[in-house]
Amino acid sequence: MRITIAILALSFAAMPAPAQKKVDPARADTAIKAAFPTAPADWASRLTGDETMQQCSASHNNPAKDVAAAIQKREQGTIVYPPDNNFMGDWQKGERLAQSGYGLRFTDYPPRQANGGNCYACHQLTKNEVSYGTLGPSLSEYGKLRDFKPEAVKAAYEKLYNSHMAFPCSTMPRFGANKILTIEQIKDAVALLMSPESPVNTGK
Ligand code: HEC
Repeated sequence: MRITIAILALSFAAMPAPAQKKVDPARADTAIKAAFPTAPADWASRLTGDETMQQCSASHNNPAKDVAAAIQKREQGTIVYPPDNNFMGDWQKGERLAQSGYGLRFTDYPPRQANGGNCYACHQLTKNEVSYGTLGPSLSEYGKLRDFKPEAVKAAYEKLYNSHMAFPCSTMPRFGANKILTIEQIKDAVALLMSPESPVNTGK
């Protein structure tokens, strides 16, 4: 048995690696568009991608310095701040939207409720929620670790409004810039991260 496995392993090792065919980007784009024949009208621009998405795709999310700087500047320009510069809403509402993955899916048209942020799909937040993804870093004690500083509150708002400002070619959605969440909802998510009463920071 062992010998058979050894021979098998050897024969695999001896096989030449399959030649990698170069994918024609235009063909791939056509196939992607054809795959969504009934997509809602507001999806059209998402299938092409805006300038930032195109630059991120072209560089495999690793843009050269000058391109990264251009992305940061462009994305920073999309940020709309709350008129009273109050960045914190209600953490309880923030927790609900962090749990909700509603919005932008085929089954969500026409919309029947507010979009969610689906934060737990990628991040750990409260201790109570044990089901979370790890694509993004843990946000446990996010505010506490930053001493609840006002600059950190503002930075969290900017991060949520447009993730590419701080991290060009981030894989986190641009919640404000792409109108996934409203300003009020972003403030609620900021409160979940930054309020001293939030379970993210109390550890409850
Ligand atoms: C599709 C996955 C995904 C989703 C959904 C997502 N994030 Fe992220 N997030 C990331 C990744 C990846 C990073 C790390 C790269 C970066 O900073 O952009 C990140 C970074 C962050 C950071 C910065 C962390 C730091 O080191 O300072 C914050 C804050 C954050 N996310 C909050 C949220 C909140 C709140 C939500 C929900 C409204 C959310 N994220 C939804 C993937 C995601």
